Amino acid sequence: MADQYAYSGDDKRPTEIPAIRWEEPPEGPVLVLLDQTRLPAEEVELVCTDAPALVEAIRSLAVRGAPLLGIAGAYGVALAAVRGFDVDEAAAALASARPTAVNLALGVRRAQSAHEAALAKGGDVRQAASAALAAARQLHREDAEASARMAEHGLALLDELLPGGGHRILTHCNTGSLVSGGEGTAFAVGLAAHRAGRLRRLWVDETRPLLQGARLTAYEAARSGLAYTLLTDNAAGSLFAAGEVDAVLIGADRITADGSVANKVGSYPLAVLARYHHVPFIVVAPVTTVDPDTPDGASIEVEQRPGHEVTEVVAPQVPVAGAQEAGGGIPVAPLGTQAYNPAFDVTPPELVTAIVTEEGVVSPVTAEALAEVCARSRRV
Ligand code: MRU
Repeated sequence: MADQYAYSGDDKRPTEIPAIRWEEPPEGPVLVLLDQTRLPAEEVELVCTDAPALVEAIRSLAVRGAPLLGIAGAYGVALAAVRGFDVDEAAAALASARPTAVNLALGVRRAQSAHEAALAKGGDVRQAASAALAAARQLHREDAEASARMAEHGLALLDELLPGGGHRILTHCNTGSLVSGGEGTAFAVGLAAHRAGRLRRLWVDETRPLLQGARLTAYEAARSGLAYTLLTDNAAGSLFAAGEVDAVLIGADRITADGSVANKVGSYPLAVLARYHHVPFIVVAPVTTVDPDTPDGASIEVEQRPGHEVTEVVAPQVPVAGAQEAGGGIPVAPLGTQAYNPAFDVTPPELVTAIVTEEGVVSPVTAEALAEVCARSRRV
C-alpha cells in the first residue's frame, strides 16, 4: 500500500534530496520515496508499507535509476520481512519489476540472502528481518561511498583527458542524488568538477519521452548552482558540430562482461556522435552495475515501455483534437498511432572511452580490464 504526503524537510540542502529513507513510525516500518514523477513541480513523498506498492513505484518511475533501484529492492525485501509478508514472493516481484538495471535484482538478492542466512543459522523471523534490513542499510551506505569515489576518479580522468579545465560536459538522463545513496554517478563527476571550479557548462539532454533530463537533472543542477543549459535530445548533433562539447558523461543500467553499456535510450547516438567528433565518451557506474553473467550487449533485456509515453507528453502542450489520452499526459499524436518506446539502448565497448567505477577507471574498455577492476570490490 502506498500513501502520499508533502515533504517537510530542509529544502535548502543543495543536493542531498532524500530519494529514499526507511522510517519506523508507531504504525510500523515504512519505506519513504521522493516521488520522482512529480518533480520538479512538487516534492511529494510516497510512503510504501508493502512490496506491491514499491513494485508499482518502480514501474511508474517514482523511484528509478540503477543504483537507487538496487537500494529500493533491498529495502523492499526488508519491508516484506519486517511486516511479516512472504519474503520470497516479495523478492520475486521486486526483482522483476523492471528488467534492464541489474542493480535491482542484485539489491533484492542481497537482502534476501541475508534473510535466508539468518534463518539458516537458527534465527527467528524477527532476527531474519533485522538481517535483511541491515543488508539494505549496508548497501545504501556502500552506494554513497561508491558515489564519492567515482566522483574522485571521474574528475581525475577529466583533468587528464582535458588539461586546462573549463569542461563543457554533455549528460543524458538523470544520474545525481535522485538515483543514489550519495551524489550519484555521472552527475557526481560533473558536481565535483563544478566544486573544483573546472566545470564551464553542463549540457543537459531533455531525455524524451519521460524527460528525466529536463525534470530531474535540471532540477538537481539548479539546486547545486551549476552552470547548465537544457537542450532537446536531437539538438546534440549541432552542439557537437559547433565544438561545444568537451566530454560526454553518462551512467549505466547494466554493463556486460564485454563492456557493452545499457543506458537510457539516446545514449548510443551520443556515443556515435562523440566518436565522430573525437570527444571522450565516459560511463560512470558502480561495480554493482557490472553484470559478469551477461556476456554482451545483444544479451541484455531492454525494457519496452508503453506507447502512450511517446504519443503523449508529460509537459503541458496544445492537445491534438480527437486523440486519445491513455496515460494522463497530453496527447500529441493522432489517435491509434503506434510507438516504438525502448527505455534503454546499448553502446558497444569500442565506442566507450572509459568506464569509471569506485574501484578505478577501465580504459580502454576490455573484458579483462573490466573484470580486473570489479575483482577489487567486495561482491555479494
Ligand atoms: O528509466 P530510468 O529513469 O530508470 O533510467 C535511468 C538511467 O538510464 C540512468 O542513466 C541509469 O540508471 C544510470 S543512473 C546512475
